[in-house]
Amino acid sequence: MTGPLQGRDLLSSADLSLAEYELIFATAARLKREFREQRRHAAQPLDGRNVALIFEKQSLRTRVTFEAGLNQLGGHALHLGDGIGFGVRESVSDIAHNLERWLDGIVIRTFDHSVVTELAAESSVPVFNALTDDEHPFQALADVMALSERIGSLKGRVLTFVGDGNNVYHSLALAGATLGMEIRLAHPAGFGPHPDIVAKAEALAATSGGKIVVGRDPRVLAPGSDALYADVWVSMGQEEQSHARVAAFAGYCVDSALLDLAGPESVAMHCLPAKRGQEITAEVLDGPRCLALEQAENRLHVQKAFLAESLGREPLAQ
Ligand code: CP
Ligand code: NVA
Repeated sequence: MTGPLQGRDLLSSADLSLAEYELIFATAARLKREFREQRRHAAQPLDGRNVALIFEKQSLRTRVTFEAGLNQLGGHALHLGDGIGFGVRESVSDIAHNLERWLDGIVIRTFDHSVVTELAAESSVPVFNALTDDEHPFQALADVMALSERIGSLKGRVLTFVGDGNNVYHSLALAGATLGMEIRLAHPAGFGPHPDIVAKAEALAATSGGKIVVGRDPRVLAPGSDALYADVWVSMGQEEQSHARVAAFAGYCVDSALLDLAGPESVAMHCLPAKRGQEITAEVLDGPRCLALEQAENRLHVQKAFLAESLGREPLAQ
């Protein structure tokens, strides 16, 4: 018997149906409970599975959670590091056709999203997007799981992303739209989302009963939000724009006043790493209304759930 995610890539948050999101959350919740109780898993669905980890950008959470998650389910991670000259020493296609002869899957963090789609198109083994300039789908999975653990069903609930219409926002908009949420974005002029992603999210929202709202002023968009989400103003690869970005994003900080304006029960979210005092204050990030560490914890479990469903010998879902 094979599950619906057997052999599947995850490149974009739009790759999953509502039922597939629910399957991953159910499996991840079970794995999380078991891990919290025993720090290990009885079932080892990834026994004998070897997965390459290719990171062309820095990472703490994603590297550690993919490697630890593979180990915890009996699999093995191979860090390829910078040593393979990805796309320089050898083409993406040649690398894909070699790796597929030896390994069972490929996790990749890179710049241009088209590299990940090319790798997936060329490779006969599943490819898992660990962040590109356009998307961060495993982050969105962990985020919506953390939010629903705190506030319950997400249908009709409102998440407002404050800041850059970037990779993290794109994936949240696509995931939230699939789940029937209202996803708002407050961004400064010139730092909006990709129009194709907004169009895709709007199409998903039209089916699910969700809503996509894109505007400017966080003080107009925050009221009535269940969650305010912050991410760095300067993403990896944008370091040369640092000064211009810090100037442009002044006023786009998730602070206590904005969180109170959102609502008395509203929570703050952040994918981490954070720059305290820029996109979020230390008081909010380190305070009881912030889910950042729950989001980080869930990375481990949603990724294990997806890897087990995609690469596991037996589907974990019951
Ligand atoms: N949130 C996240 O992806 O963290 P890292 O960049 O440390 O992996
Ligand atoms: N937008 C950030 C997310 C880091 C997890 C970046 O791309 O650097």
